[in-house]
Order: sequence, then structure tokens, then C-alpha cells
Amino acid sequence: MLILGLNMFHADASAAIVHDGEVVFAIAEERLNRHKHFGGFPALAVKACLDAVGANISDVEHVAVGQDSDANLAKKIRYAMANPSKVLNFIRLRQRKEAMRDVRSLLAKALDVDPSSLRFQEHHLEHHLAHIASAYYCSPWEKAAGFSYDGSGDFVSTMMARCEGNDIEVLQRVFLPHSLGSVYTMICEFIGYTKYGDEGKVMGLAPYGRDTYCQQIDKIVTLKDGGFQLDLSYFKPLGSNQGMQILPDGTVRLARHFSDRMEKMFGEPRRPYSEISRRDMDLAFALQHRFEEVFFHLLHKLQKQVPCDDLAMAGGCALNSVANGRLFERTPFRHTYIQPAAGDEGLAIGAALHTYHSVLKQPRLHQLKHAYLGPEFSESRIESSLKKAGLDHRRLERTFLLDTTAEQIAEGKVVGWFQGHMEWGPRALGNRSIVAHPGLPNMKDVLNARIKHREWFRPFAPSILAEYQHEYFEHDHPSPFMLHVYKIRPEKRKALCAVNHVDDTGRLQTVTREENAMYYDLISAFHKKTGLPVILNTSFNENEPIVCTPEEAIDCFQRTRMDVLAIGPFLVTKEAGNQS
Ligand SMILES: [Fe+2]
Repeated sequence: MLILGLNMFHADASAAIVHDGEVVFAIAEERLNRHKHFGGFPALAVKACLDAVGANISDVEHVAVGQDSDANLAKKIRYAMANPSKVLNFIRLRQRKEAMRDVRSLLAKALDVDPSSLRFQEHHLEHHLAHIASAYYCSPWEKAAGFSYDGSGDFVSTMMARCEGNDIEVLQRVFLPHSLGSVYTMICEFIGYTKYGDEGKVMGLAPYGRDTYCQQIDKIVTLKDGGFQLDLSYFKPLGSNQGMQILPDGTVRLARHFSDRMEKMFGEPRRPYSEISRRDMDLAFALQHRFEEVFFHLLHKLQKQVPCDDLAMAGGCALNSVANGRLFERTPFRHTYIQPAAGDEGLAIGAALHTYHSVLKQPRLHQLKHAYLGPEFSESRIESSLKKAGLDHRRLERTFLLDTTAEQIAEGKVVGWFQGHMEWGPRALGNRSIVAHPGLPNMKDVLNARIKHREWFRPFAPSILAEYQHEYFEHDHPSPFMLHVYKIRPEKRKALCAVNHVDDTGRLQTVTREENAMYYDLISAFHKKTGLPVILNTSFNENEPIVCTPEEAIDCFQRTRMDVLAIGPFLVTKEAGNQS
């Protein structure tokens, strides 16, 4: 049975295909149309899903969308009625959503087929339920607490649930305008990070700050028995100009979230790209601090309702890897499962799996143990791309390729590493990665100057052989999808100086041979040469979505000052006359 899952007309539009309950292929539209965070209809992603399983849309029995504009309708209407100036806007939004609900026509048009040939049944699932489904149904557990939080989705910002067997029972929702994600976005905007998805940058800035504004920020979001609430005087009113907009070309644009009260309280907002002041760092610190306090408060409440060790979690805020790393000490939960696409692209697999397990009552037989659900490319395709680009290249046997690449990394070279299936989710996890030596003091500056051009305060991440995690980090809980930040042990900080953040932490990826044999063997080869079971791993891109195809990887290699490209079995070096 084939089920197609969709996240459409929402940020990070995506598609996923589930075959007899197993997610076999999933991809965000941005990787194919090269439009970052694209929020339109994922036409290319749908085609890629069907191609991956050799099916036509007429073979698909169910299509599931991770959005339901009828969900929480009473709450929306009540809000609109209490805020009459927003009624028109509310009606406009609803009309637009209605037009987008015609999934049958949208798919027929995208695939150029007759709508009458489509036999699928259509399902719409509330946003946060799809988030929780994406985590729980991919997890190994028969029972777990389910938690989802983000800016907003179907008028909800937070959901808590009891997950058991095939069922997810919603225990609580926090409705808009109260949203922890919106608090994060609002303060990010105030300190000059105004683009969709900038929240991760501010998380990296936070440890440079001090406790100057914690008291003030604490007042913006206060704890309640039932959850939390915002002091709305710091925000533009919901429904006026606040929130996220999807433009007709699929661009995701954030409107200004903060009100004049923020300026009265903290002075002028920082202009994007201007110098970062002590005030901005201290605000980032206070924001991250309050975010965690509220998060832990919610998790305590959830654990009381669902007493267990296991937490299945999703939503854009679940990408806050610092909070994820601390929750083991601050809450009673002992294990987390966060699937690699915890943000909105993950809705596609959540909606599809919910249809399979909850609607159709099919058994749970598959876990998602790795993130490699995207396209892969044949050796002949890679070779012809290299020839077309005029690059001298050598084909190496597997062991020799691993050994030579590890040698180059050990010598301080910056290596593009393109292998196998592309990752699902925002992190490069060793198949579309740029890799480098984690222990060279200047490596962060080299990477930034030559390729990444990132803000000075953003750390690079380590990939570590899983069995060495306890020797290097103060936490044992695995982090296969780079979604946890842990303290690096004091005696290892110097050896990992290029991935050791200012607060002596690292956002690690634990690598097992079962999940990714090629990447595991590369780190092992580096380990043999240097004694370090760790390499620096950053995404293979330069201010663009992560590369997907060999041509995009080669183009990125040629236009940046990367030293080496290991692509499939081929090795390319700049020294061989392949200058950029
Ligand atoms: Fe979401």
C-alpha cells in the first residue's frame, strides 16, 4: 500500500512516500527547486517520491496532508469575533486555504494527469498531531509521551499527547496567540535576525551573553498551571501584521513580530548585518534561558500525565538542540526520539504514518533509524558530471578512497563529501557534508573565510563514532541526527577546539556503522591516523539549500575554496589543476 504524505503551502513544503508502513523516500521541495524554505506546492518532491518507488499517482491509495484548516475552528472564530478588526483578514486567509485544499486538482496539474484517474482517499491531519505522529510512529516505543511545539500550526503552538500502540490521544493544546516559538522569533527579529529559520543562529549567540535581562524577558512569557502565556503588549497583534506569510512564489516571509514596547524596554532594534552589541548577546541569553524554563515546565506537566521515560518530540522548536541536550537533567524523561526533520517538512511523514497506523489500523513494524531518505546518484551520472565540468578526477577503490580522504582531512584540507542518499531534514549527516579536522585552532576561520561565510559566533559540529561518545562528552544519550548539544569533557576540549563552542559544548552527531557504514569508516580511518574518533561536519552548501545532485556539489566545489571533493568513488583535488 502506498501513502503519499504532503506538507504544502506552508514553510518547508515537502513530500514523503510510505510503502506498507515504511517511509522509503522523503524530501523537502527546497532541495529540488533550490528555493530555501520554499512554502508552495511540493510538485518536484511529489514526482521524486513517485520515481523513487517506480509508481504513478494512480497507484497511490491515500494522500495525507499535515494541515487541517477545520481544526480548532471554534477557537479561531472566537478569536476573530473578539478582535473585529481581524475578521476580514481571517476570512481572506480562510478563502486562500480553501483554494489550496483541492489536493486532487493540485496533484493532477503538477503531474499532468487527468484528475479522474486519481483513486486515492484524501486525509487532512491537524498540524501538531502530524508533528507528534512523525516522531512517535518512527520511534521504537509502544508507549511514549508526545510533545510538539513551534510558532504556530492550525491555530495551535503546543500540543501534548499520550501515545500508545497505534493511538495518539491529545491531552492539551496551547492556542495562539500564546506561542513559545513566536517569543523566540520576536526576539530574534528584535536583535536583527529577521529571516525565517534564523532562530538557530541566535541559539548559538546565547552563550556569549550574560544574565542582564532575564527578569525582563521572564515577564514576557509567564508560567501557568496549564502551560504558559505571553504578555501580548510586547507583540504586534495576531492577525494584523504578525506572523509568517507565504508569498505567491513560495517565499516565506516573516512580518515584524515585536511591538513598540520592546523598543521602550530595550532601546532600538538591531539592524540586520550591523555589529552585534552586548545588549543583543544578553537578550539572546535571556531568551534561551526563558525558553528552556518554559519547555521544562511543560515537560514536567506532560510527564505527570504520561508517566514514562520516553519522549517523542517534534515541531520547529524541537530543533533547539541546546534545550534538548539539557532536558535529561532538568526533567524526568530519560530518552528522546526526535526524527531528523523535526520542523515542518516532517509533517509529510507524520500525516502519512498517522493515516497508516491510526486511520487504517495497520501494525507498527518499522522504526526510522537513519536520515538517508533522499535521492542517490549512480557512478556513471557522477562521472559524466565531473567530465562535463572539466574536472580531473581519479576513481579509487573504497578502502583507498577512505584512506586518502582521511589523510587529506588530517593534513588540514577542507573536503566536500558527497555519498549515497541525501539526508532528510535540515542537517547534513555525512552524505552531503563538508568535513574537516576538528582539532585545528584556525579551522573555524578557514571554513568561514573560504566557504560558509557564517556569523563569527556560530559553532561547527562534530561527528563522533558512537562508541567514543562517553569519552568525549558528558552525556551518553545518542544524538544520531545532530539534535542534542552536550558539554565536551574538559580534557578533550583542546583536541576538539574547532568544534568546541564558547560554553564548551558541541552539537554532536553520533555515528554508528549500522546507520552509515561509509561515513563511519571515514571517521574510523581518520581516527587511525590522528587518534581522534571525531571529524568536523558542516553542511555541503554555500548560502543555499544543501546540495542534492552531483552537479550542485561540483558547482559548489568549483565556486568556493574547498580543497578536495570526494564524490561517489571519485576524488578531485584543486591541486590537480582544478582551480576555482
Ligand atoms: Fe510546525
